Amino acid sequence: MTRWLLVALLVTILTYHNTSGARCRFARSSASQGSCIFPCRCTNGCHTTTGQCINGGQCTADKPDTPTDLGWRWTGIACQEGNVAYNKTASQSIDPHGWGGDYPAGRAVDGATNPAIGSKTSGSCAHPDTEYGQNAWWIVDLGATFNISRVIIYNRNEYKARLNTFTLGVGGTPEKTKYTHCASRNRTAGTIVEAQCRSITHYLNFSRTGDPDSYAAGLCEVVVIGHRHITCSNCPSTSTCNDVIGCDRCDPGKQQPDCTKDCESGTYGKNCEEDCGHCKDGKPCDITDGHCTTGCEKWYKSDICKTYISSPRFASSDKPDVDRISSSSVTVRWPSARNITSGLETHYYYTVWIKAEGGSYKDMSKQPHTSNTDRFESHITGLQFNTHYSVKVEPYRQQNELSEAGTSTGVTTFKTPCIAPDIPTIKNVVVSTQAGSNKGSIDVIWEELKSSGCDNIEAVVIYYKRQSSTTWKKVPINEVTGHKSDTAECQLRRVRRETYSH
Ligand SMILES: *[C@@H]1O[C@H](CO)[C@@H](O)[C@H](O)[C@H]1NC(C)=O
Ligand SMILES: *[C@@H]1O[C@H](CO)[C@@H](O)[C@H](O)[C@H]1NC(C)=O
Ligand SMILES: *[C@@H]1O[C@H](CO)[C@@H](O)[C@H](O)[C@H]1NC(C)=O
Ligand SMILES: *[C@@H]1O[C@H](CO)[C@@H](O)[C@H](O)[C@H]1NC(C)=O
Ligand SMILES: *[C@@H]1O[C@H](CO)[C@@H](O)[C@H](O)[C@H]1NC(C)=O
Repeated sequence: MTRWLLVALLVTILTYHNTSGARCRFARSSASQGSCIFPCRCTNGCHTTTGQCINGGQCTADKPDTPTDLGWRWTGIACQEGNVAYNKTASQSIDPHGWGGDYPAGRAVDGATNPAIGSKTSGSCAHPDTEYGQNAWWIVDLGATFNISRVIIYNRNEYKARLNTFTLGVGGTPEKTKYTHCASRNRTAGTIVEAQCRSITHYLNFSRTGDPDSYAAGLCEVVVIGHRHITCSNCPSTSTCNDVIGCDRCDPGKQQPDCTKDCESGTYGKNCEEDCGHCKDGKPCDITDGHCTTGCEKWYKSDICKTYISSPRFASSDKPDVDRISSSSVTVRWPSARNITSGLETHYYYTVWIKAEGGSYKDMSKQPHTSNTDRFESHITGLQFNTHYSVKVEPYRQQNELSEAGTSTGVTTFKTPCIAPDIPTIKNVVVSTQAGSNKGSIDVIWEELKSSGCDNIEAVVIYYKRQSSTTWKKVPINEVTGHKSDTAECQLRRVRRETYSH
């Protein structure tokens, strides 16, 4: 179980790494180039900073991969030297009558060398074409600056002589008309035609020459052997560099491979390896140290806005405990909320909400969260006696003036007891004696008890004594008129005692 969990976690982390904005130098595997600068060209995966083959792998096979060439392999530093034209963008001259368009330029870099010209829908040869007497041309955009050494062209199985004479031009800018001569050929062409063309270039222009038959050419595959050409002059002095894969390290804020370009927006740091945190309004961070000049998005903290004040929550099984319930107060205890970002305890607090039956919740107490305890308590006063209450605790996160409730606890109910009756205030005592008798009576009149509303008073007991006596006597309870709970009716209640002796 634990092991499975670990594997799942690992996969999540890897996926996250690959989809993050920060640029990697070498892809991990040939299937996952993503935003990496260099593709991985190893059979069993690549070292992500050096590009070297790992797990005993070797350089992958290169395109075109046919029985004729017996499967080329990438070679050189990090397997980055080989056919750099494969799957790149190609264009070509098309004659005004439409010839050439059916056999698009891209077919010369599709990795397939089949020498049959094929048709509109199938085939693997490009066919640059022009008006009779003009030079057909074909251009590949290598996508970056490469150091190339030779060009190998797979000929058609018909009209082979069209590759007898041609020139190769090179150019470093998208202005495709400005090419400098790199190689020319003038020899009977066979199945495979090769030319030395040593150059640092971004584009390669194949151009037919030689009248009168220069208006068309069949290019079943154009292979350009080379590697990336990277200048080392902007690398930090302490880094090592070569022209194939560039600087091994760039100063913060600069991108590999050559440390000339600033980090892409949203990334920062050494080699632009870090993703910005959550800067306010989605603004990018400083490319050097990642700090957010505009401040953080809400609930994010620190200079780089990567610390998140997560939303606290209780499970519904987390219910507050109540203790020391009196007629007007209660002690409420609850556990620590879940999902609190550790180290940010001061950004959390609790509110105890209490409501009387039929009423609505009122916040009765605010308690700061702290990491010193996992048990919080609050003594709530001001309750009504003899009342049913519900209590719940709500966790909050706060930042500056902002605060937001998380998920509250479940609800606990309790009831306050009745209050003890007050000693009633005696309003009047009327003594009456019977003439000629030693008997008399006393009327004791007292005010209505204040504790009305709670029907828990069982009896009123009257104590009396002679002034000279030290012991109190009490009137038997069953002789005192019972107390009623209804305040509206009884402002004043008179209780008449019958007789007593003195
Ligand atoms: C060819 O290039 C396109 C875009 O440049 C890319 O999406 C595709 O994966 C490449 N195909 C291969 C087989 O490398
Ligand atoms: C081009 O590459 C070749 C072989 O990899 C190397 O000998 C040559 O010095 C490179 N040229 C430049 C200008 O870097
Ligand atoms: C390719 O080179 C040939 C000869 O150098 C030139 O005539 C042609 O215009 C070039 N193609 C482009 C698109 O510049
Ligand atoms: C090719 O070479 C032959 C003989 O050396 C020469 O006559 C011809 O002009 C050349 N053609 C081109 C296009 O250079
Ligand atoms: C913690 O809170 C964050 C949002 O603040 C949420 O995305 C995450 O799912 C929460 N985790 C748990 C375990 O509740």
